[in-house]
Amino acid sequence: MHKLVVANYKMNGNIKFFRSLNILNKLKLRDTKIVLCPPFLYLPIVKLKNKSISLGCQNISQFINNKSTGEISPLMLKEFNVCYAIIGHSERRAIGETDDMVANKVINALNHDITPIICVGENNKEEGLSLVKTQVKAVLKAIDKSGIEKTKEVIFAYEPVWSIGTGKLPTIKDIDKAVKLIKTTAKLLVNTKVLYGGSINGDNFTDLTNSIADGFLLGGVSQKLEEFKKIVKGVDA
Ligand code: 13P
Repeated sequence: MHKLVVANYKMNGNIKFFRSLNILNKLKLRDTKIVLCPPFLYLPIVKLKNKSISLGCQNISQFINNKSTGEISPLMLKEFNVCYAIIGHSERRAIGETDDMVANKVINALNHDITPIICVGENNKEEGLSLVKTQVKAVLKAIDKSGIEKTKEVIFAYEPVWSIGTGKLPTIKDIDKAVKLIKTTAKLLVNTKVLYGGSINGDNFTDLTNSIADGFLLGGVSQKLEEFKKIVKGVDA
């Protein structure tokens, strides 16, 4: 099963930066896929000519009717060749995105063949994994109820909130525990991957490749192209 490296640019970058990503087309990868997730406005700027690289977005509308000012629908995203959508990032949950909203977004994406990358994670280190289980279960319940085929690819990203942008990392043992819990809770789905995300950089990623996670969701380091390439090549090695 191929590994996945997802770049979440969050609200960063500009036209010049997203044009410069064209250099990534030169990468020759064996068994790793890259997903680049710029802010919506920059999606058409990233010109991909490499089968190992796909486009993703950082959010998707939960609504299906067109009376939704300011929202972006899966149909619009598909016009720009978006194949993946990050959903339920903790930075969105922090501004009010609930498990129900996340579930609706996941269903909306899957119904239009956009692969969701669903972010889950505990807020504090001491909290344990009960919130992660609740977050995964909410999505699973919605998928089961919707009648969507269980063979569609659904990706989870374990991102402990306390690790995002802090330089603090969980142990490999703790990452593996979360990955196992997510896979067990989502066992209804045939085609799942679980990524790890939070404070990954060009120095610490080698150790993290020893975890059973199926790849990484990168934040800040995605903006440093040389370091990003180093991580991708290391994962692919
Ligand atoms: P950092 O890699 O900057 O900690 O961010 C991780 C993240 O939030 C990716 O979605």
